[in-house]
Amino acid sequence: MAARGQFSTRFGFVMAAAGSAVGLGNIWGFPTQTASYGGGAFVLVYFLLAMLVAYPALMAEMIIGRYKQANVVSALSTLPSLPVLQKTGFAIACYAALVAGLILSFYTIVAGWMLANTAAPIAQMLGQPAWNEWLTTDSSARNIVLSIVFSLLTMAVIARGIENGIEAWSKRLMPILFVLLFCLIAYVLTLPGAIDGLKVYLIPNWSKVTDPGLILGAMGQAFFSLSLGVGTMLIYGSYLRHDENVPQIGLIVTLVDTSVAFVAGLLVIPAMYVAQHLGTAIYASDGSLIGGPSLIFQILPTMFDSMGQWGTLAAAAFFALMSIAALTSSISMLEVPVSVITERTSMGRLPSTLLVGTLFLGISLVIVVNFDALFGFVVDLTTKYSEPLLGIMFCLCAGWLIHRNALLATLKEGNPAIEHTVFWKIWPFYIRFICPLLILAAFIQTLR
Ligand code: PHE
Repeated sequence: MAARGQFSTRFGFVMAAAGSAVGLGNIWGFPTQTASYGGGAFVLVYFLLAMLVAYPALMAEMIIGRYKQANVVSALSTLPSLPVLQKTGFAIACYAALVAGLILSFYTIVAGWMLANTAAPIAQMLGQPAWNEWLTTDSSARNIVLSIVFSLLTMAVIARGIENGIEAWSKRLMPILFVLLFCLIAYVLTLPGAIDGLKVYLIPNWSKVTDPGLILGAMGQAFFSLSLGVGTMLIYGSYLRHDENVPQIGLIVTLVDTSVAFVAGLLVIPAMYVAQHLGTAIYASDGSLIGGPSLIFQILPTMFDSMGQWGTLAAAAFFALMSIAALTSSISMLEVPVSVITERTSMGRLPSTLLVGTLFLGISLVIVVNFDALFGFVVDLTTKYSEPLLGIMFCLCAGWLIHRNALLATLKEGNPAIEHTVFWKIWPFYIRFICPLLILAAFIQTLR
């Protein structure tokens, strides 16, 4: 077997893993959930859950990957020694790779909308109103064309491998994302109405803390946001260099992800109140803040539109930011099934990328043409049900199937003094019992 790919630097790994984590979930999902669940109160609960549940679960995936040095299917099917458990591990891992692909399928459609909205203001600036119209009007033709474009971009990165594809592009795109985000915040905060939004975002409304939906929302959001439960962090962990300190680097990724979600709120919520100031309705009829597609594709564009040349530029920057966030996440989804195929068959990276990429693009297109029936179903199936259940499985595998000595040896590679850390004193026990139970408790609530 050819030598496995590897991230060449620590910075490269952090950009890639944070690139996977920072996605539409951060810039779109987090701010709108925060606004509807009482502002600062939600931020606080989210932060606690990210640290107490998502971080330990992230460690489970990264540690399995580091220990097994393999894709999710090979890793889970060789962790147990009993043949029946090996078969179970194999089945669970195949399902995880499928879920990664299904998330990619719906993500590709949404990312296509982002590309369309990035190109639309540019068409406007170039004096092409007809293109602008086509790009901003929802149609199957537009959605199909842009899903194909986005999927080709994702495949082009993955086909180039770990160091030249995932790492190189994450290192280029993530700094651009940070710069765009900060410039946009600086711009929006100067506009009238923005400060009202800032207050809604930052001042906790404690009466909402008792809302049973809040903890669930925060838990689901944390899982999706850290790309958990589908083997993404497992495969990225397996490409990490051996001298890296896994618990520390995982903590950095968690903190970057959480901070970007928080900072994105400083952009999106004030922007909504600027739109309100300009006369756009931002509350639905039931009194809740509008959060779905109409926020991103109607409220924000209307606001940018009414602000002249700078507004048009800001609109292009905003949707470019969304497109970049989506691309660094989608590559990490595609890498899961592609790594399974390249490592378990004799197929090379390029053909397997084309095969798997085309397969899930096909599913995207089926969803596009049956949008009302399928989109919500696939989103719920993958993010609401499958990710938490699979997350529990990864915790149990890491906790019960890696022998304590092997675990210690694996962690010692990057931190010889790990035995004396708080992490080593707590995590091995925590991941066996407490973390899976916490996820389960929240999951059961979802079913009620
Ligand atoms: N974390 C990404 C986001 O917040 C989504 C994602 C889920 C990426 C699962 C990879 C795997 O948008």
